[in-house]
Amino acid sequence: MDVRSGTPVTKPRSPGFVELTAGIAALAGLLFGFDTGIISGAILFIKNEFHLAPLTEEFLVSVALIGAVCGCVLSGRVTDAIGRRSTILITAGVFSVGSIVSAIAPNVGFLIVGRLAVGLAIGVASYAAPLYIGEIAPPNLRGGLVTLNQLAITVGILLSYVVDALFAPHQSWRWMLASGVLPAIALELGVVFLPESPRWLLLHGFRERATETLARIRAAEDNRAEINDILEHAQTGRGKLADLLRPLSMRVIFLGAGLAVIQQVTGINTVIYYAPTIFQAAGFQSEQASITATAGVGLVNVIMTIVSIPLVDRLGRRPLLLTSLTGMLISLLSLAVGFALGGPALKWIGVLSLVVYIASFAIGLGPVFWLLISEIFPLNIRGQAASIATTANWLSNFFVSLTFLSLLNGLGNVWTFLVYAVLSAAGLWYCFALVPETKGVPLELIERNLRSGRKLRELASLN
Ligand code: BGC
Repeated sequence: MDVRSGTPVTKPRSPGFVELTAGIAALAGLLFGFDTGIISGAILFIKNEFHLAPLTEEFLVSVALIGAVCGCVLSGRVTDAIGRRSTILITAGVFSVGSIVSAIAPNVGFLIVGRLAVGLAIGVASYAAPLYIGEIAPPNLRGGLVTLNQLAITVGILLSYVVDALFAPHQSWRWMLASGVLPAIALELGVVFLPESPRWLLLHGFRERATETLARIRAAEDNRAEINDILEHAQTGRGKLADLLRPLSMRVIFLGAGLAVIQQVTGINTVIYYAPTIFQAAGFQSEQASITATAGVGLVNVIMTIVSIPLVDRLGRRPLLLTSLTGMLISLLSLAVGFALGGPALKWIGVLSLVVYIASFAIGLGPVFWLLISEIFPLNIRGQAASIATTANWLSNFFVSLTFLSLLNGLGNVWTFLVYAVLSAAGLWYCFALVPETKGVPLELIERNLRSGRKLRELASLN
């Protein structure tokens, strides 16, 4: 019995099956990380081969982000209509086709189409995978299992740096882009063997299949209680537009979209995409040094995400989120101070600040955002609501990536990082005031609290 919730703690029935299922679905995260990261190295050679003008180059780099935004906007209803598993399956196909088209592109037009397709797939995969994992996971393991997806994102980013470095001496940008096909095929093959989410099955009246699936992923006595609980919520019917626009839905969508914006406007992708630029500004002149430092950033991101996996179900979402934003705030302030002081100290203040910044993001804001958007929405609109929050995430990502260099040029280093620091402070306040602690709480209880009008902060309360 879970002391907090008073409900039975559900343990997976066949040991390892839920973990394996989550691990396969998380390959979608690996593709997300890999395909957003790989272009940074490939673009150097594409630019030369096709003699790209600066504007075309910028467009080619950002076209995947545009695709991701379109992917989320277009697919919210699809995830609710055809199911989580089928959505991921189709997405894996689009990943493969997009990677192949980009790799064999005879001209820039083809390249843009290929990268747009990859972007569409990234957008869909970014929320469909955590949603799926969140729905198959037992409450006591849900945080760690959904965080596997964020771990896969960070591994994908690191892998993309490695693949870029491997193929760079041969200038083979085509192989860099083609490498994405391998994880896409692995995902495609893996998903064929995965069960559909039992929650989606029950919502759509497939009771027998849902029972079969639950029998594989839960202990029998917890299974019955869970089915009854989910069925009770399935009574609300499949979500229509009107359900999405109801005040109770809008409240949680506001919470999710707000978290999405915070995850991006506090500057994570200025570091992920532009770390070499920041390191050079801090005094690392040689390209080798800034590339090594960038790989270091990728590694810290992976390691600290691994650290967060057991903590998110033990300490809970809120402590990690609040610690994370505090660490990001302090490191951004120290980066600004470092730039203000200048001189030889700047190099080391710069490295230390960026390491603390990325470690802080990786332990909280990175994984917890994706986790919360798989938990807080009611079942009948979960896919659509998660797609709205994810769209807010990609739009903010696009905006920050587009404005970062102009901010550096216009405001200078000190003020640019101060802007991100102020936004982190605002994010800290927002999370402190509004984010509920969902640790170990069944999704159906969160939904019941939402429907009974509880405050956002109390959505996962047990009484
Ligand atoms: C964010 C991405 C970011 C990545 C870095 C994800 O949670 O959504 O925008 O690039 O973390 O690890």
